[in-house]
Amino acid sequence: VTRDESTWEFEIRLLLETIFFRYKSDFREYSLSSVRRRLALALKKLGLDTISQLQDRLLSDTTSFDVVLQCLSVPTTEMFRDPPYFKSLRENVLPILATYPSVKIWIAGCSTGEEPFSMAIMLHEEGLLARSLIYATDINPISLRRAEAGLLRIEDIQKHTSNYQKAGGKASFSEYYSTTEKGSFLRQDLLERIAFADHSLSTDSVFAEVHLVSCRNVLIYFGRSLQNRVFDLFNDSLSPRGFLGIGSKETMRFSPAYSAFEEFDAANRVYRRRIA
Ligand SMILES: C[S@@+](CC[C@H](N)C(=O)[O-])C[C@H]1O[C@@H](n2cnc3c(N)ncnc32)[C@H](O)[C@@H]1O
Repeated sequence: VTRDESTWEFEIRLLLETIFFRYKSDFREYSLSSVRRRLALALKKLGLDTISQLQDRLLSDTTSFDVVLQCLSVPTTEMFRDPPYFKSLRENVLPILATYPSVKIWIAGCSTGEEPFSMAIMLHEEGLLARSLIYATDINPISLRRAEAGLLRIEDIQKHTSNYQKAGGKASFSEYYSTTEKGSFLRQDLLERIAFADHSLSTDSVFAEVHLVSCRNVLIYFGRSLQNRVFDLFNDSLSPRGFLGIGSKETMRFSPAYSAFEEFDAANRVYRRRIA
């Protein structure tokens, strides 16, 4: 066993403690194998060779944490990602939410906003937007700032458009953004219905009662005990008979909170709270 192989786990755990105490960001319960891959990327970006070097750097140079956070938080996203999920929400969940006087939705781990943007478009097309509020939360301040501006990457628009169509979009995707010399931006009336906030699934608690939680491609980076914490948090945040949507590679089957839910659309990972 090389030094690297026997010590990487200790070094990473120590580094995550440092990050927690120095920067208050808690990655200690994330899946170690994914943290290891993401830190390898951070080392490369910072031109460092070892986790111990990164440890020193983080203590002396706070700007290096921006690079580490960017790597550890994995901001990859796109609009109407996994179109059948959105189609299922549109066809099966929104008609139920349409019977409520107002609709509250929480997108946890919203990254640069593409998931809440998609939700706002769908609510608009189903005639629900005016009485809906979308809470969109994340731990990455760079992503949240971009999301708040409604900025879309021009190079992603083709992908967004094709996802939108596959997800059952009823209009032309180009109706929903405008392009200026500063970039492409989501329409203001859609953006207005989204409240962006800094909230950590690792350390923060319930902040509102909602009818639908959508948390996709986030839990995949967490260890089992953190996943369990988050499922309990969602259970506590949902109204009776509320909905929970998670990512295509994620399941809640192994969590204690599973018994509080029924599988509403198992293929698309949509769960519904049972009556307690
Ligand atoms: C891969 S993106 C998923 C974005 C979007 N939900 C999607 O499916 O396209 C993962 C997001 O989870 C966020 N995240 C990671 N840990 C988090 C935590 N403890 N609390 C809240 N958000 C977190 C990251 O900052 C990142 O923006």
